[in-house]
Amino acid sequence: MTPSGLAEPHPDSRTASVEAPTDWSTVSADPHHRSVAPAWLERPADANGLAPAVWPAAAARDADGVLELGGIPATALRERFGTPLYVVDEDEVRQAARRTLDAFRAAAALHGVQARVYYAGKAFLSTEVVRWVTEEGLAVDVCSGGELAVALAAGADPARLGFHGNNKSVAELERAVEVGIGSIVIDSLIEIERLAAIVERRGATQAVLLRVNSGVHAETHDFLATAHEDQKFGFTLTDAPAAVARIRELGGLEFVGLHCHIGSQIFGTAGFEESAARLVELHAELREGGELPVLNLGGGFGIAYTSVDDPTPIEQLALGIAESVARQCEVRGIPMPNLAFEPGRAIVGRAGVTLYEVGTTKPVALESGDTRLYVSVDGGMSDNARPALYGAQFSARIASRTSDVEPALARVVGKHCESGDIVVDAEYLPGDVSPGDLLAVPATGAYCFSLASNYNYVSRPPVVALRGGEARVIVRGETIDDLLARDAGLSTVRDGRELAGAPTEGRQRMPVLSERSESK
Ligand SMILES: Cc1ncc(COP(=O)(O)O)c(C=O)c1O
Repeated sequence: MTPSGLAEPHPDSRTASVEAPTDWSTVSADPHHRSVAPAWLERPADANGLAPAVWPAAAARDADGVLELGGIPATALRERFGTPLYVVDEDEVRQAARRTLDAFRAAAALHGVQARVYYAGKAFLSTEVVRWVTEEGLAVDVCSGGELAVALAAGADPARLGFHGNNKSVAELERAVEVGIGSIVIDSLIEIERLAAIVERRGATQAVLLRVNSGVHAETHDFLATAHEDQKFGFTLTDAPAAVARIRELGGLEFVGLHCHIGSQIFGTAGFEESAARLVELHAELREGGELPVLNLGGGFGIAYTSVDDPTPIEQLALGIAESVARQCEVRGIPMPNLAFEPGRAIVGRAGVTLYEVGTTKPVALESGDTRLYVSVDGGMSDNARPALYGAQFSARIASRTSDVEPALARVVGKHCESGDIVVDAEYLPGDVSPGDLLAVPATGAYCFSLASNYNYVSRPPVVALRGGEARVIVRGETIDDLLARDAGLSTVRDGRELAGAPTEGRQRMPVLSERSESK
């Protein structure tokens, strides 16, 4: 750490010596080149522009053309913290949390019920983020013992935590019951028995929901509705009544309602409406066996990753979903339950920007006769797995300057030993994009930090939060010593010094062969 308490720049990320820019726009200005651009991608008049829906509201260019995030030049962030760097705008997270909560509360109130909004911690969890969202009035949902530990370490009220997941261990369930978790979403018959035994042993009562699979799966614009979805989560609509009956037989479990999550990055209300119709039918049937105060419809609300993405505003989604549940309840002559939601991406996605430094640029001739410009940065699939995992699209801008050079179509790639290591599949960047340029990728607040890995022994970047013109580290970056500290084949001493942070267990030498074969 520096004397000011700030992390030292990552040693691998020293500014590359800036070489004379090459104008790649002549390559991609070729009319044939258009064929390697995806159909959706428009060639911008200005490849320096910041699409407002994609960037944090406070992102802007300063008088020198440098990208400012939260009032701080991206170049100053590079100098202090190095690259790659996750940057998160705290005000943007807080504002999204408030807006989402207000939207669902207002929509529910129109029908005389309440709405609870859980922040889906899996999108991006750290103690700071838990504090921000809980201060803004959100509850938090977790799906592992580790996520539960982070939420508790942040001081979250256990009664305002939800816990779901298809394979919670006995230890994880024990811990959740021990701390007095608000609700547990049951995912299998085995889990009913497992949880009931824990609750009985502890003499506790535990509120539970049942995860159901409505047969509706939604992704961005489309949804698919089937009788049975072939996936691991929850109970089918057909199997759910028997599971609920079993829960109700068991004294320590208090069944409070159904839970469903139909997918991610959803732009419209149609999938939610179809799913709600199916759920309310089951909800009505189950009410005959006792009150059901809650219906949890999960998360999945989409955000803009590129300038062509046009997600439905959260207020409109909230109104549409609440209206459709109300309609279904009216048809069946039952009171409307309180609603619960679990947005993750919609809370943190747009608040995050990842900064990288360009290391190399390379035109690659394609068989079609086209040329694709590859721009390599100093991170990649280890800090953003979404393109490799899901074919997700992102956008990018040079952050350290603007340029008048014509736009060139580029593919931004990482430094990993994997050809699928793509950060931004297709983007127009100024044609003089060069080594040493700072590149910013917006909308990386969700499922980037949380899906990060150490592939190729690349250490995970720090997370820096911005607020009031100040930047502070909220998760420190890893060092190579952090990674080596887990290697049990190593001596505890390197270069004459003790390896930092090595847990005692982790530093024991590997057992000799005979010991290993004995334990087999
Ligand atoms: C059960 C559940 N709830 C909430 C979420 C959060 O989804 P999103 O971040 O798309 O809002 C997920 C994401 O996978 C989920 O599985």
